[in-house]
Amino acid sequence: MKTPAPREIVVEDLHRAFGGHAVLAGIDLTISRGELVAIVGGSGCGKTVLLKHMTAHFMPDRGRVLVADHETAGSPLRNLSGLSEDELDRIRVHWAVVYQKNALLTGSVYHNLAIWPREVLNLGDTAIRPRAERALRDVGLEPGEVMSSDRDSLSGGMAKRVAIARALVMDPVLVFYDEPTAGLDPEMCVQIHDLIGETHAARPGSLRHAGVDTDVSRTSVVVTHDTELLRRLRPRIVMLHAGRVRFDGSFDEFVESKDEHIRPYLAQMAFLHARLTGN
Ligand SMILES: Nc1ncnc2c1ncn2[C@@H]1O[C@H](COP(=O)(O)OP(=O)(O)OP(=O)(O)O)[C@@H](O)[C@H]1O
Ligand SMILES: [Mg+2]
Repeated sequence: MKTPAPREIVVEDLHRAFGGHAVLAGIDLTISRGELVAIVGGSGCGKTVLLKHMTAHFMPDRGRVLVADHETAGSPLRNLSGLSEDELDRIRVHWAVVYQKNALLTGSVYHNLAIWPREVLNLGDTAIRPRAERALRDVGLEPGEVMSSDRDSLSGGMAKRVAIARALVMDPVLVFYDEPTAGLDPEMCVQIHDLIGETHAARPGSLRHAGVDTDVSRTSVVVTHDTELLRRLRPRIVMLHAGRVRFDGSFDEFVESKDEHIRPYLAQMAFLHARLTGN
């Protein structure tokens, strides 16, 4: 019998309010290693806030967020609230975030690709350059053409690819995307969907170096309003509503749902997606 995939992220009874306004009001969610999960829901429902709890940018008012620690044999779950900054840094080595607005730094593409390996992994240019070249090729960019380009000269689609390449340079076990197709034209959206799918399917190699849990599949969490992304990648879909998980299931179940809150959201998704900008 096949053993179930271990748990990668566990959110338990997560509550979070801002200025008296309860945004997350009891989120329970378990994500297994290797899953591709889309978090959807109306504008302002707390998708980004939930993502930021998973990446330890925010800490819960109540409840817990546990994430697998790939620096320790067996990858035990750790409660993010109980960790020191040093312990968090150690765990974060295996995560990467692709931000809605890319959050590329002023400077060249290489500068952006090198920053995390240099600061987080303490690598020098000789080690970083081949990783950066590989990551650019993985996102369909030619290193010789773009490596020294300035951030401000990139088109929206190229900037998103560079943001994904910056994540890939870290060879992450866990990848978080916040609205990865925001502001892109439909053709570019499709390319980014495929890139997210390919990135998800590729196995991270970083743990082979660490000598811990050598056979680990990548887990991807994508916050999105993009119905085409859901249609194409068929992730597990988790919809938030009124601070809680309203739906958790497949694409087919989602689009066929008769739920009074899902139907109007589905009807609105294209509008919400088109309204977003990526910069
Ligand atoms: N740092 C913060 N300080 C105060 N309020 C915040 C903060 N971050 C988020 N909020 C509030 O939390 C609520 C949820 O925000 P969040 O960004 O998670 O929504 P979202 O579901 O990602 O929406 P969208 O689809 O528009 O991106 C909003 O009311 C927002 O104003
Ligand atoms: Mg958001």
